[in-house]
Amino acid sequence: MRAHAVAQPNIALVKYWGKRDTVENLPATGSLSLTLDTLWTKMAVELQETAGADTLTVNGSENKEMLGRVSSCLDRLLGSRRAKATVTSDSNFPIAAGLASSSSAFAALVMAASKAAELPADTLSLARWAGASSGSAARSFHEGIVELRADDHRIDVRSIAGAEDWPLRVVIAVTEAAPKAVGSSVAMIRSASTSPFYRSWIELQDEDLRLAREAVRNRDFEKLATVSEHNCLKMHSVMWTSRPPVVYWNEATLNAMETIRELKRSGLPVFFTIDAGPQVKAVCLPAACDEVNAGLAATRGVKEVIVSGLGRGARLLDQG
Ligand code: PMV
Repeated sequence: MRAHAVAQPNIALVKYWGKRDTVENLPATGSLSLTLDTLWTKMAVELQETAGADTLTVNGSENKEMLGRVSSCLDRLLGSRRAKATVTSDSNFPIAAGLASSSSAFAALVMAASKAAELPADTLSLARWAGASSGSAARSFHEGIVELRADDHRIDVRSIAGAEDWPLRVVIAVTEAAPKAVGSSVAMIRSASTSPFYRSWIELQDEDLRLAREAVRNRDFEKLATVSEHNCLKMHSVMWTSRPPVVYWNEATLNAMETIRELKRSGLPVFFTIDAGPQVKAVCLPAACDEVNAGLAATRGVKEVIVSGLGRGARLLDQG
């Protein structure tokens, strides 16, 4: 009744920002992402038929804030009459700071819990369960470049290119390690009900997905860069025009974006993307990686730079 799993976070290029159904947590549109390899979340789940409550330890300390979400995820997966869970999570990067920690955390949690409970489930079912807790977590079950499709009732997820097929690099400029003030779920719901741009954001997603899919199929970096930066700026425009506004950027976020624009002007194959947090992710071809790393490390306000390739989907670990 004990199992371990590991999952890597993923960074979206065509973003998920909006829910079709807030109860089932179904995304309003599809999305497309890169699964990373350097960052990870390892999750141990132990199930015991004893009285008492679930417990959650994150990076060595008891965590009561995230316990509710973890318990609801386990209820959905195993039923509310399930055994009590002792959950231990370790990540090698800051959590809840816009580094997609919920994607790796919920993917690893669902993978480990289903094994601990000996639940027979295929990858797509696990991805759907994880997606019901964190939309982006569904994408962390697959390697490389991943597309999530959404219809009225459910999601479908698959890898459209492996890490070796197109070995992109992601250089992350960490500008603030503290947790963000507004969580993505709350912010998405606010955007849907208050931003005058929300409707057109949703309507234009299919076209961005088509362009990004085509760029991946043809290994067309320029085309992927154009659609990804545009998609990112549209999502942040929806956030900024929500009431009250959702602004995740800080001064160093803008500095890092400018560094990437300068590197691009000098001819390097690189573009930026930013999620629900102040960190800037530069996506580049391997030959540009060292220069992008050096440029971001020298940018005012950047606290740390993390370099990653594309990684594998969530998987079980042996220690179980
Ligand atoms: O999976 P959530 O609920 O943490 O939402 C993720 C939202 C973004 O990171 C901003 C976009 C995305 O597609 O990952």
